[in-house]
Amino acid sequence: MTDIDRRVVLGAVAALASTGPLAAARSSAFPRGFLWGAATAAHQVEGNNINSDLWLIEHLKPSPFVEPSGDACDSWNRHLDDIALVAKLGLTAYRFSIEWARIEPEPGTFSAATLAYYRRLAEACRRHGIAPIITYNHFSLPRWVAARGGWETPEIASLFARYCDRAARALGSLPAYHCTINEANQPLLPYLLRGDKPDRGEEFILGLAAKAVGSDRFGSYASGNRYRARDAMIAAHHAGGDAIRAAVPGAKVGITLALPVLEAAPGGEAMRARAVAETRTVWFDACRHDEFIGVQNYDRKQVGPAGFAPNRTDSMTDDEGSDNWTESLGTAVREAATATGRPVLVTEHGINAIDDARRIKAIDAGVASLARAVASGVPVLGYVHWSLIDNFEWLRGFKPKFGLCAVDRATFARTPKPSAHHLGRIASNNGLKGTIA
Ligand code: BGC
Repeated sequence: MTDIDRRVVLGAVAALASTGPLAAARSSAFPRGFLWGAATAAHQVEGNNINSDLWLIEHLKPSPFVEPSGDACDSWNRHLDDIALVAKLGLTAYRFSIEWARIEPEPGTFSAATLAYYRRLAEACRRHGIAPIITYNHFSLPRWVAARGGWETPEIASLFARYCDRAARALGSLPAYHCTINEANQPLLPYLLRGDKPDRGEEFILGLAAKAVGSDRFGSYASGNRYRARDAMIAAHHAGGDAIRAAVPGAKVGITLALPVLEAAPGGEAMRARAVAETRTVWFDACRHDEFIGVQNYDRKQVGPAGFAPNRTDSMTDDEGSDNWTESLGTAVREAATATGRPVLVTEHGINAIDDARRIKAIDAGVASLARAVASGVPVLGYVHWSLIDNFEWLRGFKPKFGLCAVDRATFARTPKPSAHHLGRIASNNGLKGTIA
């Protein structure tokens, strides 16, 4: 091959790589220092979170939970090993949540020991060269907050800010990113799409919970009047964020939003527009002054004239039939960045799949679509996979498998799946290049 021939061929390959099938395989899209990580949440992994609202609800008879969280993954005792595992896999970020119910077990009483515990986790991350990404509230609330009405209690913003202040002061400058509330926009979507009607089953359960704590009310994540709770969460995000920034100058604060791709099924345009306005635009407006926005995307959903419509059948699905469209993650980060003008951190992306080969496919598709978004100018700070380990998946218990690592339910031993090493290779390549056989 002459030099000219070589240049022509290389030029053709480069052109194809920027637009064609090779685009996904380029690693150059991701900037230096791009974070590659995995996530967990306290209630889902720590175990014995007995002072939380959810522990109480899990033990009601009847309970909407198929099983209680119990020891979960025993991460309370194994968290340092989990952080070492993240490092061993070659990942550079670990997102975990701190548990309000443990830090402030009674109103105004803060546990210095628990704060020191979480600080040790953040220190361990730093020792391993891992960026700690801390979530202050990942769904569960202290039982005493729930007994006052949860997110609907009028004082929630100031209560949350007081907790954030204490926690941020304990963590200091260790966290790379602070996420105030996890998926605060999520509860309104199904509520709105089923016609804004209160759910009688939910009211019954909350009534039982209220009785159990001797209160006339009980409010948990995704309960009660979702509009009131949403507005309170926005206020709490602002107050909590300001408290964190005041406690830790230079802190990078954001919120994480659930951003499934929403498509209008035939006749669903008006309903979709309303869902976007109420569950996204309001939040995007509220996040415009944050240091980043956390994007969590798993799937694509169809919105018809009367609510959710059947999923499309032309893409990969997870174990429960969710539509894992290959372009979903890239679409979600574009939407968030365009609407807020903020840099995006992918704080969750994953798949519920027993078959780990499908997780690898989902990671590749997600990272490829993310690479295209980054190449087109979307500022993305990192990709954090949900989840590091198979864990307690809320109402559905331990059956769904989102983990990069399996957890033996009797011994709690962690075993990395091929997808864990796959993501580790992506991290060391800073992209997909070389990871596809
Ligand atoms: C939540 C996680 C959950 C995951 C998979 C996300 O909405 O933030 O806590 O485990 O979805 O269900």
